[in-house]
Amino acid sequence: MSTNLLKNISLLAGVHAPETALRGKALAQLPQIEQAWLLVEDDAIAAFGKMTDVGLPAADEVMDMSGCMVLPAWCDSHTHLVFAASRESEFIDKIKGLSYAEIAARGGGILNSARRLQNTSEDELFNLAYARLQELIQLGTGAVEIKSGYGLTVEAELKMLRVIRRLRNASTIPIRATFLGAHAFPPEYQQDQEGYIRLLTEEMLPRIAADKLADYIDVFCEKGFFSPEQTERICRAGMQVGLKPKLHVNQLNSIGGIETAVSLPALSADHLETMTDQDISLLAASPVIGTLLPGAAFFLRMAYQPGRQLADAGCALAIASDFNPGSCPSGNMNFMLSLACIQLRLLPEEAINAATINGAFAMDLQQQVGSIATGKKANLIITKPVPSLAYLPYAYGSNLISRVMINGRWIND
Ligand code: NIG
Ligand code: FE
Repeated sequence: MSTNLLKNISLLAGVHAPETALRGKALAQLPQIEQAWLLVEDDAIAAFGKMTDVGLPAADEVMDMSGCMVLPAWCDSHTHLVFAASRESEFIDKIKGLSYAEIAARGGGILNSARRLQNTSEDELFNLAYARLQELIQLGTGAVEIKSGYGLTVEAELKMLRVIRRLRNASTIPIRATFLGAHAFPPEYQQDQEGYIRLLTEEMLPRIAADKLADYIDVFCEKGFFSPEQTERICRAGMQVGLKPKLHVNQLNSIGGIETAVSLPALSADHLETMTDQDISLLAASPVIGTLLPGAAFFLRMAYQPGRQLADAGCALAIASDFNPGSCPSGNMNFMLSLACIQLRLLPEEAINAATINGAFAMDLQQQVGSIATGKKANLIITKPVPSLAYLPYAYGSNLISRVMINGRWIND
């Protein structure tokens, strides 16, 4: 057994182990210990307390953290980090004035990524995604969900999910896999939507279930993509083989996605840029976690998610990156935290809870990560010397992380 004692931590934040995702007043409470110590045993948090405690535990290694804060690593519960190529030409089109929907209607967008992915080998996809994952870990991400959805054929969807499984096996951080075959109708099924839904439910799902390639099922419920009724059918087929729904809803339009997410119920309803008052009350009264993706609204220059209203209404909220080549080519959760505070008007404590413990709940990883609690994985962010917790989202764009620990080991040591 190896032990590591971190001492003189100026602030140890996220010291809790809630039983359900946080909402309301609890979302605004981020329990903290000032002038703290934390003991890591092998890959886990073993104990913690105040520096004034009598008799600090002995350890193989003792590190002085004077001036630095320690937080649980970010839990990014919504990404599409397996993709074949970036899409800067669409980025230029957007600068010139085309909308996301117009680009998609021209065969750009998701279909562009699908063509590229279909022609890229499994090894190449793995190597590209592995490098992205390492970058995210250095930025403080300690658990991540990854979706398929750039395959859109039986073989390419299975290939993507196998890449995610390889990432899971090769990675030091926990990874959850989501089947998003219902991301868009492929060109050959534009006139035969039922045919594609049969392909999803009768051919892809049984093979995914047989090989245990996914934990969750996702559908892009949106005008021009999948209707709420189609979303519900696809999700129910997924639920029958043990996949819980996590849905893309209310990004561009409010067409009934929240009702569907609540009635299933989904583990999470993600995006939420376009929410009616009724959508907000419905979500707030449900157990569904609302996952806000401010990076997508930022990059697409859309109105931001109504984070403040959602929090005030009592929704359980998570913050995630949506890292993908089309609507958010960044997986930097530190920036998402800043956007959540600056643009969504969440308080720093709310945003940190949303990006850690509630993100863990949105991946069913709350027993392993997302907070400082005995027995949880020692997946930690050590900040540079900072004057306050609020300084983290406030000083956006600065790299305020000095070190990251994953499974009790320092990254880059
Ligand atoms: O979450 N909205 C749907 N899917 C992705 C974007 C996909 C793409 O443009 O490649 C998202 O924003
Ligand atoms: Fe997404």
